Amino acid sequence: MNGKEAAGRKAIDEISDGMTVGLGTGSTVYYFLQALAEKMADGLSVTGVATSEKTVALAKEWNIPMVSLNSVSRIDVTIDGADECDPSLDGIKGGGGALLYEKLVAKASEKRIWIVDDRKKVEQLGHFPLPVEVIPFGWKKVQALMENKQYHPALRRNETGEPFITDAGHYILDLHLEKIQNAAALADELDHVTGIVEHGLFVDMTDKVLIGYPDGHIETI
Ligand code: 5RP
Repeated sequence: MNGKEAAGRKAIDEISDGMTVGLGTGSTVYYFLQALAEKMADGLSVTGVATSEKTVALAKEWNIPMVSLNSVSRIDVTIDGADECDPSLDGIKGGGGALLYEKLVAKASEKRIWIVDDRKKVEQLGHFPLPVEVIPFGWKKVQALMENKQYHPALRRNETGEPFITDAGHYILDLHLEKIQNAAALADELDHVTGIVEHGLFVDMTDKVLIGYPDGHIETI
């Protein structure tokens, strides 16, 4: 057991029969999906709304039925990971590049729960580079703007050195900020930059965080 597995498996307690469940993305969510598939094999019935192609592939492999975000009127609960989480339950997401679909699914959800290991808990956000999803057309203009603001952007690349492409066909600029003094103000600023589709700051969007520790215990905030 590690912290990610502990948190991922604990999240199954949040799921009841008949729910529509937002399925996040990442290595912690992997353990949640595994636990969900086990419960479904024992008779639990849920429908999933996936936040990435990777999660779609896992859900298919484990026979978790899925529907599209467009076809649901509500999502009861979304279980997702995070890259950093502060004491107010604000955080950074998008390390896996799925921030846009993750935010869309989160916003359509009645309840939002993060599952993280203890290394994701921080007093102040910003040490983890903040992902910003940008339209490929003219992306260098957004990069220049971010450079002018001293946000230290770096174009995310894949293993072969090509620009990383999100599921929606966009690029990602990772902002190396080190410290974010006011997450809400920065989120608002980035929301208004033409060419930025979405950013990985999730402010006032999370109801509960399950933090898993290496010894398997869980802290809930
Ligand atoms: C993907 C995400 C992930 O939830 C985040 O990167 C955490 O991933 P992991 O559980 O693998 O540490 O936001 O876009």
